[in-house]
Amino acid sequence: MTATTVSRRLDVCLVAAARPNFMKIAPMMRAFERCAAIDAWIVHTGQHYDADMSDVFFADLGIPEPAFHLGAGSGRHAAQTARVMTAFDEVCVERQPDLVVVVGDVNSTLAATLVAKKIGIPVAHVEAGLRSGDMTMPEEINRIVTDSIADLLFATEQSAVENLRREGRGDDDIHFVGHVMVDNLLHQVARLDALDRRSMQYDALRRALGEYAVVTLHRPANVDDPAALARIAGALARISQYLPIVFPVHPRTQAALAATGIRMPDAVRLLPPLSHIEFLNLWRGARAVLTDSGGLQEETTALGVPCLTLRDSTERPITVTHGTNRLVGTDPDDIVAECEALLGGDTPAGRRPPLWDGASAHRIARILCRRFSLPEAPSLDAAEEPQGLLS
Ligand code: UD1
Repeated sequence: MTATTVSRRLDVCLVAAARPNFMKIAPMMRAFERCAAIDAWIVHTGQHYDADMSDVFFADLGIPEPAFHLGAGSGRHAAQTARVMTAFDEVCVERQPDLVVVVGDVNSTLAATLVAKKIGIPVAHVEAGLRSGDMTMPEEINRIVTDSIADLLFATEQSAVENLRREGRGDDDIHFVGHVMVDNLLHQVARLDALDRRSMQYDALRRALGEYAVVTLHRPANVDDPAALARIAGALARISQYLPIVFPVHPRTQAALAATGIRMPDAVRLLPPLSHIEFLNLWRGARAVLTDSGGLQEETTALGVPCLTLRDSTERPITVTHGTNRLVGTDPDDIVAECEALLGGDTPAGRRPPLWDGASAHRIARILCRRFSLPEAPSLDAAEEPQGLLS
């Protein structure tokens, strides 16, 4: 893409779709609102639609109401992707944004990118270049296709920059900016610290348990296959004999547990999906987090909380090389052994990855201003995006 001079303000459409997207949209909206040259608005594709998977996050994270809600809902990949494409095409034709910003690797990320590019609207991909090498993950396909046609590629870690170069993307299009999700996390930590936590719904549980682990699971490979889910559930039951577990259950996992009839012991507290701040209040104080989420691997690294990842690969290697994450796989004996090692004091000493400092959305705003020949974004008010929680 060549630099384009935009005479009016840059009209930017941010695409939000599923729970892990909302944490990335929030700091970008704040950064763009501070920038007089950018007009930003949101399209919610409706990939996640339950109140506790969507509305709660808009309220909790302070995200403005979407300008458009596409109501795409759930379904098979082709149907879901197609519904987002059809509806987003109408929005793009009507509003003609100067730039579409997509985040992450969900089906809506791919759908919105395809639509915008085919009608000549430039696309910026935030969280570009992450690769697990596992083509059985739908997200890996979404990442590769999105990055192959997006114009601006914003990377969270150096490995992503290298992946993009290896795939033939030029350095002019790749920008290593750190992680907008960490911007949001640091903002939420400051908010949490200013709150009376005793008023929170699950704070009494946190205090009553003292020591506990937090679990999240939602990857199709772990939850859609009943045998795989039963193996992981068995490992959690063993761990809960000496370390209570708090487990907010994703709707996909809830459906899988109901269908298989797998029952958890009482020491595994099953909770509904939580708001960002309720969940943060729980996992920040956990002895360990066990997860298959990509975002939580990164958030635990940002705050130095030990994380065991129940997958064989990660597209976020910096969380292992710099952070507190360990790739454990899904063998029950390995999960239990790693958890015991961690409780025995073998905890990874994490360092904060480069540029995970709370200023990533601001960097993106500045790069957009340069790229589109707009007046420079204002300098960052450090008080607005707290930084440096880890030394
Ligand atoms: C999607 C993303 C995944 C991301 C995850 C975060 C893709 C391919 N997958 O997976 O990358 O990590 O979001 O949660 O885009 N459901 C509800 N209510 C909702 C949303 C979903 O009940 O608000 C149920 C439905 O039964 C649905 C199932 O959860 O069929 C799965 O939802 P879906 O959006 O297809 O995928 P996720 O597993 O959430």
